[in-house]
Amino acid sequence: VLHRDRRRAESFGADPRRYDRARPRYPTEMVERILARSPGLDVLDVGCGTGIAARQFQAAGCRVLGVEVDPRMAAVARRNGVDVEEAPFEEWDPAGRSFDAVVAGQAWHWIDPVGGAVKAARILRPGGRLAVFWNVGAPSPEVAEAFTSVYRKVMPGLDEYSVLLGYGGPDRFATGSEGMRAAGLFDEPEQWRFEWQRPYTRDEWLDQLPTHSDHSVLPPHQLDALMAAIGDVIDGLGGCFTMRYAAVVVTAVRAG
Ligand SMILES: C[S@@+](CC[C@H](N)C(=O)[O-])C[C@H]1O[C@@H](n2cnc3c(N)ncnc32)[C@H](O)[C@@H]1O
Repeated sequence: VLHRDRRRAESFGADPRRYDRARPRYPTEMVERILARSPGLDVLDVGCGTGIAARQFQAAGCRVLGVEVDPRMAAVARRNGVDVEEAPFEEWDPAGRSFDAVVAGQAWHWIDPVGGAVKAARILRPGGRLAVFWNVGAPSPEVAEAFTSVYRKVMPGLDEYSVLLGYGGPDRFATGSEGMRAAGLFDEPEQWRFEWQRPYTRDEWLDQLPTHSDHSVLPPHQLDALMAAIGDVIDGLGGCFTMRYAAVVVTAVRAG
């Protein structure tokens, strides 16, 4: 179970500036839909990292508090203007505060799925929304084929679970919605999907790879070999390519 792998769960702070620079943002439409279906603008961002999602919610008019387990990520979030309290969400003390929405970007799979949902329900106001979301790669067939053949050669196995290549997502979504159901405190969970895309240069794509915990735990020589080979593939595609993503939201409203 992913949330028990604390080595990976707390690996992101190894290079928080790279993380903040290289990781994709979320579609504005997704942020707007979450807010339109929440009773107000007080948001708790679980596993806020460097504040990528938090800043998008701030820009949409929200008051955002982050909870983050890794002090190195929290420090960057604060420099970016996000209030952060340092704790694992499961142990964090809400001290009587309540929120209109509890969100988690690319983080809910690192949290106990049932315990996390119970805790979220307790701090949500009536009608408040839990919305956890992930950007999942949805590469075009041309890009998928080129990347997958490299992973198969250099790092067999990674091509079958890397979320960057489009794998692993469905398990996260199912675990998220089962956790919300098992908590017994939410209406029936829903899944929303937002397709989007962005262009990448070779350097931009290579910058992102080591920010993924399944890549950063590779022995350095293997990661170097993977990055060199992926770099060659992107050169072969003309030095840049368009990456397609799906931002998938698993969400439920606190039962009245
Ligand atoms: C992949 S990052 C996502 C960061 C940010 N939400 C974003 O959208 O870019 C996952 C974050 O969750 C944090 N995290 C992992 N387990 C946690 C826990 N139990 N409680 C709070 N934060 C946790 C990690 O330290 C990391 O910063």
